[in-house]
Amino acid sequence: MIERPSRVRDPHDRLRPADLRRPVIGAPMAGGPTTPELIAAVGEAGGLGMIGSGYLDAAATREEIARVRALTAAPFGVNVFLVDRADSEAALADAGGPEAVDRYSATLTPVADRLQVVPAERPGFTDFDQAATLAALVADPVAVVSFTFGIPDRDVVEALQEVGTAVAVTVAGVGDARRAVEVRADWLSVQSAEAGGHRSTTTVGERPDSITTVELTRAVREALPQVSFVAAGGISTPEDVDAVVRAGADGVQIGTVLLRTPEAGTSALYRAALADPRFTESRPTRCYTGRYARALVNEFVAGFDALAPAAYPHLHLLTGPLRTAAAQAGDVEVPPLWAGSGWRAAGVYADRPAAQVVAELWDRATSPLPR
Ligand SMILES: Cc1cc2nc3c(=O)[nH]c(=O)nc-3n(C[C@H](O)[C@H](O)[C@H](O)COP(=O)(O)O)c2cc1C
Repeated sequence: MIERPSRVRDPHDRLRPADLRRPVIGAPMAGGPTTPELIAAVGEAGGLGMIGSGYLDAAATREEIARVRALTAAPFGVNVFLVDRADSEAALADAGGPEAVDRYSATLTPVADRLQVVPAERPGFTDFDQAATLAALVADPVAVVSFTFGIPDRDVVEALQEVGTAVAVTVAGVGDARRAVEVRADWLSVQSAEAGGHRSTTTVGERPDSITTVELTRAVREALPQVSFVAAGGISTPEDVDAVVRAGADGVQIGTVLLRTPEAGTSALYRAALADPRFTESRPTRCYTGRYARALVNEFVAGFDALAPAAYPHLHLLTGPLRTAAAQAGDVEVPPLWAGSGWRAAGVYADRPAAQVVAELWDRATSPLPR
C-alpha cells in the first residue's frame, strides 16, 4: 500500500514533482507500452505513472483510469494530445496538400504489397476525441493532466486546476516553456531531442532542434528560475539523472528505460529489437506519423525518412495498417521502434520490475535531492 505523498494535503494542493517520494515520471506511452500495471508500479515506487490517452477516445480513457484505480491508490496522471486542426491543415498545405500524402502513399506500395495490406486511403484529420476526453477529466479528476503537442488555453488549465488537477505541459524549448508558464501550468515536462517517441513541438510544420537534455534543462532553468519541471530525453542511468538534476531539473521523465520492464505492454518483437545489436542508431523521423519521433533505424526509417511530408495525423492513419500487419507478421523492419538516445544504456535494466528501475535510477543518482 502506498502512502500518499506527504505534501498533498487536499484536492486543491496540486501535485508537483517535488511532492513525490521519487520525482520520476513514468512517461505516458500511447499505443500499447504503458499499461495500468506499469502506471501502478511506478506510482507504488513513489514516482508518477501516466496514462497515454493520445490515441484513445474519451470512453477508452475512462476505462483506463478505472483499471489504474483498481490496481493502486497512488496518484497518477493522464496525458492528452493537443492536436490542432488549423495547424495541421496549414502544415499539410505547406507540404503540398493531400496530393503529397497520396504521393507518399504510392511510395509505400511495395511494403503494402509485401504485407498484403492497403494503406488507409487519403486519411483526413482527427483530434482523437480531445474535447470529450478533457470534459471527462474535469468530471472525474485525476492528480495530473499533461499536454503534448500544444499549449492549452488558459480556460482549459483553469477548469482542470479548479477540480484539483495539476496541469503539466510537455515543451521542447524555452519559448514554449514560457508560453506554458503564461497560461499558469503547474509544471513542465521539458523534452529534448534525445527523447524516444514524438517530440512535443507545438506545430506540425517545424523541424525540431537537436538539443541535448542537459543543455535544454540548463536553458529552461536559466530562463525560468522558479518553474517546476522534469527533464526528459535519453535518461537511462543514475548518472543521467544526476546530470539533469545538477542542471536544474526537479525530477525526470523516463520512457525508453521502462519499455523492457515486465509491466510494460511492449511487444516481444519490439523488446527484442531494443536488445538487437543490428540496430545501431535511433533518429527522429516523420516517416510513420508525419511528426518527428525518435525511432531505431530499421529498413522503413532508412527508406522513407526523406520522403515523408509534414502531415500529422494523416501519416499516422495512413501507415497504421502497415504497422499493424508488420507487427503481426513479426517483421521488425516496418513498425516504429520508438527509442530514446539512451536505449543501449537502458539495457542494464532489461527485464527488471518498473519499481526497481524507478528506485535505482533516483536513489543511485549522486545528487538525488530536487532543487
Ligand atoms: C514508446 C514511446 C511512446 C511515447 N508516447 C508518448 C505519449 O503518448 N505522450 C507523450 O507525451 N510522450 C510520449 N513519449 C515521450 C515520453 O513522454 C518522453 O518524453 C520520452 O520517453 C523521454 O525520452 P526517453 O524515451 O529517452 O526516456 C513516448 C515515448 C516512447 C518511447
